[in-house]
Amino acid sequence: MSISIPAGLTELLQGFTVEVLRSQPGDLLEFALQYFGRLKAEAAESGAGGGSPAPGHERGSLAPRRAPTRGVSFAEEPMQTDSESGDEEGEFAAPVINRFTRRASVCAEAYNPDEEEDDTESRIIYPKTDDQRNRLQEACKDILLFKNLDPEQMSQVLDAMFEKLVEGGEHVIDQGDDGDNFYVIDRGTYDIYVKCDGVGRCVGTYDNRGSFGELALMYNTPRAATIIATSPGAVWGLDRVTFRRIIVKNNAKKRRMYENFIQSLPFLKSLELSERLKVVDVIGTKIYKDGEQIITQGDMADCFFIVESGEVRITMKRKNKQDVEENGAVEIARYSRGQYFGELALVTNKPRAASAFALGTVKCLVMDVQAFERLLGPCMEIMKRNIANYEEQLVALFGTNMDIADPSA
Ligand code: CMP
Ligand code: CMP
Repeated sequence: MSISIPAGLTELLQGFTVEVLRSQPGDLLEFALQYFGRLKAEAAESGAGGGSPAPGHERGSLAPRRAPTRGVSFAEEPMQTDSESGDEEGEFAAPVINRFTRRASVCAEAYNPDEEEDDTESRIIYPKTDDQRNRLQEACKDILLFKNLDPEQMSQVLDAMFEKLVEGGEHVIDQGDDGDNFYVIDRGTYDIYVKCDGVGRCVGTYDNRGSFGELALMYNTPRAATIIATSPGAVWGLDRVTFRRIIVKNNAKKRRMYENFIQSLPFLKSLELSERLKVVDVIGTKIYKDGEQIITQGDMADCFFIVESGEVRITMKRKNKQDVEENGAVEIARYSRGQYFGELALVTNKPRAASAFALGTVKCLVMDVQAFERLLGPCMEIMKRNIANYEEQLVALFGTNMDIADPSA
């Protein structure tokens, strides 16, 4: 049976519970009256007073709702089993973000995926057209956080996702805000800004693929970056409750499976334990058949690989003086369990320097470029030392270092 939880209910009750735990009131009922009274007053103050119902209080619903984000439109409304809880305005009902419900200040970094409630009975379903379903499936097929889900979990995630159209220049996420949704990109380009000493710096971009907004939901922290659309586009949102119920829960399983393996990797030894666990949280597993191409020389790069099992063959085609690839690739390396590859293009910001193929069945842990840059900075020394070795090896093989590490080449 599928029952829709009124949007915002979980956050409303969570916010209240947190305030109770924090304030330890003598008279719980009195405290509740004051708390919800205040919430109502704040919602009315934020511009929904007068004759019309306060946001989030339409037609008997107690769940607070957030004012619509600039220029955002949602293609579908969630399916409701209770007609009273329908949303006449067609906007997605997200929880009011106020000082009562601010999660970040309450339990920043508190993270125990095993303690997540298992309310599998409550499912959010946004009906979708065939076109939307196809686009959603295409957008989600390479999302690493979804890679370890079983088919039932994946189907629940797809059901709960909703389309959100964005305008060029729109802030999809603002650094410091509380996290409401995780987003998968359907189309459009987006800049990532991180504030340092109050000054925002562009640290990366998303180009028509990828996902963002997982950190605040995973770790109960404020948004760690601002994401600005640099073209009109669309993203698929997944609400916080479903994200925590499925993805965070699944991450607990991932930690059990990969914690020891990640701890054992020498190239990650500069990371603290907590940083290594964050690596586990963001990796996805990919399986390649014998002979399958994992990386193609010359392609643009967006991820990094660690071999979990099997063997990977690295080959390179040399270029002639006119910069044209000559026929016949030469094998330059083989990697097995615990070794990594695909870092070079991410470090030098150049196309892939070589190709990679599976020898037998290969299982890799994969990390996207944003997570690589965010999490593996402390491991750069070790990686750069290995890059120097590649150059020596290429000089020995081809008589030139193939300009692999020269960013100006
Ligand atoms: P979250 O903190 O929820 O919201 C902002 C998102 O930006 C964050 O999750 C990540 O998904 C994404 N992001 C991409 N690059 C970075 C970065 N360098 N630092 C922090 N967040 C980043
Ligand atoms: P990248 O260029 O991203 O993709 C191909 C990968 O092959 C490269 O990263 C390295 O991880 C790996 N590789 C192994 N040996 C070499 C080498 N001698 N030169 C360049 N890349 C190498």
